[in-house]
Amino acid sequence: MTEHENKTAKLLVHLGITRPEELTALFADLRGRFDADCACAQDETSWKQFRDAWLGRKSGVLTQITDNWLKPAGAELKRAVGAALNELRAHVESRIEARRLAIESGSEESALARERVDLSLPGVIRPIGSHHLIRQVFQEIEDIFFSIGFSIVEGPEIETPYYNFEALNIPEFHPVRDDMDTFYLELPKGAKPPLLLRTHTSPMQIRTMEKQKPPVRVIVPGKVYRRDNPDATHSFAFHQIEGLAVDTDITFCDFTGTIEYFVKQFFGPSVKTRFRPSYFPFTEPSVEFDVSCPFCGGTGTSTASRSPMETSASGTCSKCKGAAWIELFGAGMVDPAVYGFVNYDAKKVSGFAFGIGIDRLAMLKYGIDDIQVFFQNDVRFLRQFP
Ligand code: FA5
Repeated sequence: MTEHENKTAKLLVHLGITRPEELTALFADLRGRFDADCACAQDETSWKQFRDAWLGRKSGVLTQITDNWLKPAGAELKRAVGAALNELRAHVESRIEARRLAIESGSEESALARERVDLSLPGVIRPIGSHHLIRQVFQEIEDIFFSIGFSIVEGPEIETPYYNFEALNIPEFHPVRDDMDTFYLELPKGAKPPLLLRTHTSPMQIRTMEKQKPPVRVIVPGKVYRRDNPDATHSFAFHQIEGLAVDTDITFCDFTGTIEYFVKQFFGPSVKTRFRPSYFPFTEPSVEFDVSCPFCGGTGTSTASRSPMETSASGTCSKCKGAAWIELFGAGMVDPAVYGFVNYDAKKVSGFAFGIGIDRLAMLKYGIDDIQVFFQNDVRFLRQFP
């Protein structure tokens, strides 16, 4: 507690003051203390403490003077204390306000200094990312099909069994469903229909034909899901591009010509192609489409391989395992039964469809050994495909 606080807490009689002229030294001393305190208030917090110490209503110095000196004083002394107190109050109030203004303008100045922008400094260079390799391959394929009149449609990743299976001529309990085991969504009890993560992009064949009359020429890029255990060539989430062309006069030749055009654009003109019979419930006839191995030039041997990575100790190409061919994707002419689900007249229209696994296509083109690298987000891998 400071000395003036001590004195203002006492009555004048206890300080030995009974005559007006004795007040002069007392008030001069107080003013000196006030001026010293005032100089110490350097920032907003200390200024507030200082203001409350002097002007606080309950126990500020001026209140104490009023309570302890002025009120109990006799008439003559009271007049003198009142006059001295008024003078002191005017001084205190004006100095406290002046101090506040000084602190405020000082902090504004320092804030201005802090926030000053130096336009001569070099800017912040942010690293620019690039498209993921899968996105780049999508783009490459989309460009090729654009150039021959296909357009892009996209569809839901959450599907009903009807679009994923039934309308594609895969009834319940058909054995082909086993190959496409997938993830069903947990829905509230009794909710219908059940929902699943689509196992292929083929449901968009149905959705497109439901909306649009022939001619139809679309490709459908997107994510698909299967309950496959992850290994070097399998992932539970992967990517496909569906293709569908339906019109009144589409032949098997249009189909093979289109696919061959795409493959030669994508892998280069020297690649050879072949079809093998296959089976899909929604195409008839169905084929698997193979390309001559781009790593060994279709020889099946390691001598023609592009890099030691693609050779094996036995002298056979490690990519095609000596077969000289690599399976690319499934396709076929649209099965007439499918047209029945979308109210197309199977006697008047014909068409073809294909479903390309993008991840494996990218692996093949760019010599990638393990499909998992597409999903690990390792920048050392991603940076190799700027
Ligand atoms: C289908 O999905 C058919 N919908 C394709 C189709 C469309 C046929 C239109 C006829 C007409 P398939 O199950 O074979 O077919 O899969 C197509 C491609 O997806 C495969 O060739 C393969 O490249 C890729 N694929 C399949 N399973 C996986 C997986 N777990 N991980 C990565 N890629 C996969």
